[in-house]
Amino acid sequence: MSNRFAVILAAGQGTRMKSKLYKVLHSVCGKPMVQHVVDQVSALGFDEIVTIIGHGADAVKSQLGERVSYALQEEQLGTGHAVLQAESALGGRRGVTIVLCGDTPLLTAETIDHVMSYHEEEQAKATVLTAELADPTGYGRIVRNDKGLVERIVEHKDATSEEKQITEVNTGTYCFDNEALFQALKEVGNNNAQGEYYLPDVIQILQTKGEKVAAYKTAHVEETLGVNDRVALAQAEQVMKRRINEAWMRKGVTFIDPEQTYVSPDATIGQDTVIYPGTMVLGQTTIGEGCVLGPHTELKDSKIGNKTAVKQSVVHNSEVGERVSIGPFSHIRPASMIHDDVRIGNFVEVKKSTIGKESKASHLSYIGDAEVGERVNFSCGSITVNYDGKYKFLTKIEDDAFIGCNSNLIAPVTIGKGALIAAGSTITEDVPSDALSIARARQTNKEHYVTKKNN
Ligand code: UD1
Ligand code: MG
Repeated sequence: MSNRFAVILAAGQGTRMKSKLYKVLHSVCGKPMVQHVVDQVSALGFDEIVTIIGHGADAVKSQLGERVSYALQEEQLGTGHAVLQAESALGGRRGVTIVLCGDTPLLTAETIDHVMSYHEEEQAKATVLTAELADPTGYGRIVRNDKGLVERIVEHKDATSEEKQITEVNTGTYCFDNEALFQALKEVGNNNAQGEYYLPDVIQILQTKGEKVAAYKTAHVEETLGVNDRVALAQAEQVMKRRINEAWMRKGVTFIDPEQTYVSPDATIGQDTVIYPGTMVLGQTTIGEGCVLGPHTELKDSKIGNKTAVKQSVVHNSEVGERVSIGPFSHIRPASMIHDDVRIGNFVEVKKSTIGKESKASHLSYIGDAEVGERVNFSCGSITVNYDGKYKFLTKIEDDAFIGCNSNLIAPVTIGKGALIAAGSTITEDVPSDALSIARARQTNKEHYVTKKNN
């Protein structure tokens, strides 16, 4: 196999998006479009991936990081001009170069691999990935000669009304003989409707020279969507969502309503998990087996153990053990660790806290900056008072402690093993193990007070 290089075009502003955010950074299923392209390409083990950056160069760089190298296109003079910026990195090297657009997030590694293999088998100098579209509006059209061979590509804006009838389109993905590509690019002009240097013109240049130009028409039409505006962005979201959800269904996950369930391309879900509508599994989230998620639950960058249920709740950047019950209406904030068999009930917020095995906070609690042991009971309305307006302090609660209703634990404070906090207490000092602590005003009953007052 010869050397394989990739060039990803990501320098455009994306005028048609009407956005302050650069086009290729718009997300599909929570991941920027250009990241989808890079992830698919990376799966194929290329020798070098060069990303062309321009508009929002720094933002694109910080999104993609070190996995790719970069070439700057200072002025966006067209896709041909964009590829030419990769010359200092790739020029003069032998091999095959695949060029992809950063706005085709649905393209899969499989299809990229197929077009590469086809190109190599055909020993072509250029192979364009094409698709037959019911509505080809906006795309470059594939113009074939009497023999059915690709002659050139004409942009929608330059096409005659006859050419506009062509339904076979350029998907914006091509394989080239690397050396032939950079030679031909030098001959590309900008005498066209947009005054731009078009990459697709390389096809005609090579064809005219008598070089072999091939086309690989994919049956996976839905992969070829080029996202130029927000309507296409929403279409891409639908296709990607369906693709992700179907893949999990085939691996044994139940989706009650796949249209209303959103799973990140970087999430994993265990067998026999059931997901109810309105659930979003975002970022790098790992879900165990036999879980019940939703309805209306948001999980982000978190790990959820087997047989855990999370209903109408939010869990961010946290780890949850096995057989845990969360919700309805709970909020698990970042850096929390919820161990096995814990119960977090309605209107409970946990922040940057560890909750030991079999502990319970069933209703109306706030647990922040706390280390909670095993089998601890947080009764209704009990809270940690972790913040004095300037600093945050730690609350430590040892195994088997029982925190009565409506208690305030003013941090820093430690509640000893097995200690009992009476309901309504405001605890400001450490409580020894096994002690009962009562910190509230004593009740006074004034007998017959009301009758006297009324007479
Ligand atoms: C392009 C193709 C068209 C094809 C379509 C498929 C050209 C001239 N046309 O049109 O034949 O059917 O894609 O989706 O190539 N970019 C740069 N620098 C530039 C211009 C663009 O990096 O100077 C990048 C953009 O960021 C984008 C990609 O190239 O990721 C494609 O540009 P775009 O403007 O979307 O081209 P289309 O009009 O979609
Ligand atoms: Mg485009």
